[in-house]
Amino acid sequence: MATEYNEHTPVMLKEVLSFVPKNKKLTYVDMTLGRGGHASEILKVLRKGSSFYGIDRDEDALTYCKGFLLSYANKVDLHYLHAEFKDATDLLKESIPGADFILMDIGVSSPQFDDPERGFSYRYDAPLDMRMNQEDHLTAKIIINTYSEKELIRVFRDLGECECYYPVVKKILAVREERSINTTYELVDIIKSSLPAKFLHKDGHPAKQFFLGLRYEVNGEMEQLKIGLKKAIDFLNPNGRLVIISFNSEEDKVVKDTFKEVTNNNHVDKYAKNGSSTGYIALTKKPLVPTEEEVLKNNRSKPSILRALERI
Ligand SMILES: C[S@@+](CC[C@H](N)C(=O)[O-])C[C@H]1O[C@@H](n2cnc3c(N)ncnc32)[C@H](O)[C@@H]1O
Repeated sequence: MATEYNEHTPVMLKEVLSFVPKNKKLTYVDMTLGRGGHASEILKVLRKGSSFYGIDRDEDALTYCKGFLLSYANKVDLHYLHAEFKDATDLLKESIPGADFILMDIGVSSPQFDDPERGFSYRYDAPLDMRMNQEDHLTAKIIINTYSEKELIRVFRDLGECECYYPVVKKILAVREERSINTTYELVDIIKSSLPAKFLHKDGHPAKQFFLGLRYEVNGEMEQLKIGLKKAIDFLNPNGRLVIISFNSEEDKVVKDTFKEVTNNNHVDKYAKNGSSTGYIALTKKPLVPTEEEVLKNNRSKPSILRALERI
């Protein structure tokens, strides 16, 4: 599928580029390679002799980018790693001591979302899958057909922040008594037929938050973010910078709290000098959001929230 669904417009590209350290060779780690939209533009501005490590948990992204980014090989050392946030820096440590620039543009890419086969979208009829890494075991189908009532409530209420989850959970349990639930459209029908009318006519698709909760659970996204972000921050070289783009307030809260923790005066950092205990400053006092112009051109950029940090 690597060549069929290729379009991904990088979000807040100008803003991301503004944080790339200038005038020196860099070790640049892209933790969310996707279709290389950000990576190709950042590689353009890197000095000759810089190094690049492109990481993704989705093998399709790596296959695509190995071809797409090949033209930069005469200027930058290109490396690729099939890994997830939680393990990425542990694996990188086998090759490099740290990074000068790290980008995390979290969530799913447009090619993942728009490929009906992957089952991420309530807009296409597809098997209930939603795995970013197709080698993982847990799928949305396993969750829907085997999780207990209590676990389904956790997925929809706590991860998806669904306002009205209980009738949907009850209906899933009832349908499961008769048959297995296999496809995105079957799940959409269950959601639509169990929600009270006032929830059906709210803004946005009625299945949106249910699908988000399922996606988070399948891919362990919140845990990946919490652990992976801390490890990435710790992996920065002195004067190294990290830019992270999240896509909703729940994700941004994790980012905000983590930044607060490491920029706090009580944070004990391995490189901290002059008796101070913190080793980081936030480069964005308030998070950046896309301009109206960008949202008009690319509606998918609308919810993005960018924060950046530097190791001092
Ligand atoms: C929004 S896309 C990145 C798009 C990319 N910046 C571009 O411009 O083409 C996010 C990518 O990160 C990957 N990803 C998400 N969570 C991940 C994780 N925990 N570990 C590794 N990769 C992850 C997804 O598979 C997806 O390809």
